[in-house]
Amino acid sequence: MVSYKRLNPEDVQFSSAVLSEEPRPVQEEVSVRVNNTAAASRREVCTLIPEAWRFDCYPERGVVVTKELCEARNCCFIPASSPSSAARPSGRNGIPWCFYPPDFPSYSLVSINDTSLGQRGTLAKEVKTYYPADILTLEVEIRHETDSRLRVRITDPSNSRFEVPISVPTCHQEGRDHLVSSLNSTVAPLFYADQFLQFSTSLPSQFIYGLGEHRSTFLHDVHWNTLTMWARDVPPMTNLYGAHPFYLAMEEGGNAHGFFLLNSNAMDVVLQPAPALTWRTIGGILDFYVFLGPDPGSVIEQYVEVVGYPAMPIYWALGYHLCRWGYNTSDSAWEVVKNMRNYGIPQDVQWNDIDYMDQFMDFTYDSSKFATLPDMVKDLHAHDQRYVMILDPGISSTQPEGTYWPFDEGLRRQVFIKDAEGRTLIGKVWPGLTAYPDFSDAVTHEWWYDNLKRFHEKVPFDGLWIDMNEPSNFLDGSTNGCPSDSLENPPYTPGVLGGLLRAKTLCATAQQKQSIHYNMHSLYGLMEAKASRIVAKRPFVISRSTFPSQGMYSGHWLGDNRSQWKDLYTSIAGMLTFNLLGIPLVGADICGFSEEPEEELCVRWTQLGAFYPFTRNHNAIDMKPQDPTAFSPLARTAMKQALLLRYSLFPVLYTLFHHAHVHGHTVARPLMFEFPKDVKTYGIDKQFLWGKSLLVTPVLDPGVDYVDGYFPEGLWYDYYTGYSVRSKGEELPLQAPLDKINLHLREGSVIPTQTPNLTLWVSSGQPLHLISALSDDGSATGDLFWDDGESIDTYETNQYTYIIFSVAQVLTVDHENLPSVSVVASFQPCFV
Ligand code: NOJ
Repeated sequence: MVSYKRLNPEDVQFSSAVLSEEPRPVQEEVSVRVNNTAAASRREVCTLIPEAWRFDCYPERGVVVTKELCEARNCCFIPASSPSSAARPSGRNGIPWCFYPPDFPSYSLVSINDTSLGQRGTLAKEVKTYYPADILTLEVEIRHETDSRLRVRITDPSNSRFEVPISVPTCHQEGRDHLVSSLNSTVAPLFYADQFLQFSTSLPSQFIYGLGEHRSTFLHDVHWNTLTMWARDVPPMTNLYGAHPFYLAMEEGGNAHGFFLLNSNAMDVVLQPAPALTWRTIGGILDFYVFLGPDPGSVIEQYVEVVGYPAMPIYWALGYHLCRWGYNTSDSAWEVVKNMRNYGIPQDVQWNDIDYMDQFMDFTYDSSKFATLPDMVKDLHAHDQRYVMILDPGISSTQPEGTYWPFDEGLRRQVFIKDAEGRTLIGKVWPGLTAYPDFSDAVTHEWWYDNLKRFHEKVPFDGLWIDMNEPSNFLDGSTNGCPSDSLENPPYTPGVLGGLLRAKTLCATAQQKQSIHYNMHSLYGLMEAKASRIVAKRPFVISRSTFPSQGMYSGHWLGDNRSQWKDLYTSIAGMLTFNLLGIPLVGADICGFSEEPEEELCVRWTQLGAFYPFTRNHNAIDMKPQDPTAFSPLARTAMKQALLLRYSLFPVLYTLFHHAHVHGHTVARPLMFEFPKDVKTYGIDKQFLWGKSLLVTPVLDPGVDYVDGYFPEGLWYDYYTGYSVRSKGEELPLQAPLDKINLHLREGSVIPTQTPNLTLWVSSGQPLHLISALSDDGSATGDLFWDDGESIDTYETNQYTYIIFSVAQVLTVDHENLPSVSVVASFQPCFV
């Protein structure tokens, strides 16, 4: 576990790379100081630094780093020994050839004083580095905010710099007398120039999670892996829709800690096998939190306490959602809804993509192709179903004056983002040329609300899908280009796709109410979600772009995936990562967005999707329909079964969301959260848990009727048969015919279920059941949170029922021969 001690000036050095003949063992604390560098020749000193501990001194892209360039920075130049293709002179995704020597200039603590919350001191260095506007004197403030949370802020005392405008609670507890000591920042120099802020830390292990949004495995690869953050409309491996500078690190013995850099500027996070991590951001301040856990679940609770607890979803948010891009008429969408009803397949929500709009303009609908839209919505409501529609932020700017209220009124109220010269910045999205609302301005929220209200009078939608809010732009910057200055071309540009901050978004120099777009860019989706959370009782918003604290305002879908088995698999990592990030209402496009899924893939995806906290089938334009009614009776029935299973488990899921809302728990949970001492669980991202007890083992490969699943030590009950298996912590083969997703209940748990129906509203009137999975001593516990499903703050205002179930002393449990899963009780819910 990360430990604390009180800080003295001699403890703080932000320089000194690590010297060693041998690579260091994973868990060893790194704090080697080099005193004799003057004596040793530069080259000898450089050679002593193990490859895994070389911190890149020349991270700039597009430069072939020569010895001369490197030595001009006073850094070590040694071509890496490994012939691996990863080792390249530029060092981006390989061992750096140009790296910091131990005596590279950095800051020292020159004074430190106690404050009521901790300590405040001055960091200083004597020599400016090669990045412009290097700041020689810094203020550091260390706050022991709670027993388990430490905050460190490093600021420029002579200039105010941009700080992320999200409010985070400060709760101070007296009597703390400790500081991080084993989170070692002396492994590489600290940089604090105006547009280049960098610091590195050693890591306790190679088990690092979080750092969204990227499409990757759940466990990050620490072998020279650069993760860039800058919200971007593009599906592949680089910077993606959201920015989440938070990681969870596992330590020896099952302990964990978390680290959150509260900074919204474009940044790179570099993982290297030492193991170590480098934060490299191009603006703002260094404001970071360390969460001490000690177990991984507690780390997430502590993180969520800072960024904000996720909103309690309205009950129907947890039902099945159907969507596609390319319902060409409202009648064709309505037809699918009716077919779903005819086949008795559960569906709570029907969605529309941009097809419903008149020329893709927000707050309009196509009065010929979507003439029956209001009737469809009425019909949905009559069947206890709901309607969600898409909105993009870009507001068409080319309609004749007086014909498009959103733009005319937006101009009048001055809600749009301006370019560097103060003109409305114009980009391009689906409707053609567009202006972008500045959601950092309260006036824009009022204007957005008025638009929603006016449209709601025509089409009484129930929730919002906010897309393209990175914000996406089909142009780079604006119709007028962007100025040429250090905001558009910073001294260092992180590894953003396209190589420019403005690539497929707005100019970095664009002006928003609270700051320049350079600072505000990755906050756009968060601020739009805040503005959109105004409709209905408990608002329902799903956003593509996200930032820490997003869970308070919206859920998230994982964006444009493909109808491929690989994407089925990676969706689990995405779902688990967003649960770590405090946004538990998350899921991927079931059956894949682009491309056309084979039937088997769509069945397997619907089974897995039935266990996404947010479950929506979505499809791209021009692709064949992929809703359950589009498939053979066999496939359709398997999908229906999976969805009915989800509906029967609604009481469990709803209760888990309550715990997320109140305690910051994960809903879809990695196995290692429940079994942190079992290292074999650390890399698992083909299975996951709902809460602490329901183990989901989906099929992720074609053409198989079995699946291997890992079972941590203990007794596990087959959900369907009740038969138990006692695992020593091993992988077991499970039968998995096409109509089955494997589910197991952990010993000692009680879960509430419900007879399912076609909508969650109807299900909610059905009897509840309890299923208990007894442990060896015949005991089990579980709980249920129940309220009216839609009123705001029912927990906060005491309008709910919370029941704890406990089974004790059931005599003689014959695990081998008796199904131990049994219905213990049933009762009517208070859902009215
Ligand atoms: C991009 C979104 O990611 C996708 O889901 C949507 O269908 C298209 N935009 C069209 O609106």
